[in-house]
Amino acid sequence: MRVITLAGSPRFPSRSSALLEYAREQLSARDVEVCHWNLHNFAPEDLLYARFDSPALKALSEQLETADGLIVATPVYKASFSGALKTLLDLLAERALAGKVVLPLATGGTVAHLLAVDYALKPVLSALKAQEILHGVFADDTQVLEYQHSPRFSAHLQHRLDEALESFWQALRRRAVQPPAFTHLQGVAHV
Ligand SMILES: Cc1cc2nc3c(=O)[nH]c(=O)nc-3n(C[C@H](O)[C@H](O)[C@H](O)COP(=O)(O)O)c2cc1C
Repeated sequence: MRVITLAGSPRFPSRSSALLEYAREQLSARDVEVCHWNLHNFAPEDLLYARFDSPALKALSEQLETADGLIVATPVYKASFSGALKTLLDLLAERALAGKVVLPLATGGTVAHLLAVDYALKPVLSALKAQEILHGVFADDTQVLEYQHSPRFSAHLQHRLDEALESFWQALRRRAVQPPAFTHLQGVAHV
């Protein structure tokens, strides 16, 4: 199984990226191949000027095509996900997330904006035709105890991350066991 992790913060090190780093460790321990991307992999002018022929964009798009899942992390900026992440998502093909399981993660300064993922990011992931968008994890800044070096989280956040990653893992496994095609089932029903 192959998963892409995408850090949507313009900053590094960053709190939301720390959540991704933890996710990467956990998935790698389960023999999932993880390819990590962050906004610094892209030339800023390629994103700002919507250069669809950006070499980094091409490389990400190719990796996405064969990936089973995506974990995307973002800080909350002005009650939404980061604008820099949007400039990248805008450049992906319309069906870039077709057939993929997606887990969104976010960090923010206030729990008042914990729904930002639901009302802002999830509709964009849907527009990219994600097959299954899982219940995301929102962490407020006080729950990220350390993010400059080895990430450390409050026990409550750690627990929620573990649960979300378990759901992600189960969804990937379900995806790996494909049910028979619908047309085939119809054929069986008529016998
Ligand atoms: C420009 C800017 C805008 C922000 N806007 C919000 C906001 O509207 N709501 C919120 O809860 N936090 C807001 N924050 C706080 C960040 O979401 C929070 O510190 C987050 O953990 C930063 O993540 P990062 O370290 O991955 O970049 C904002 C921070 C910045 C720099």
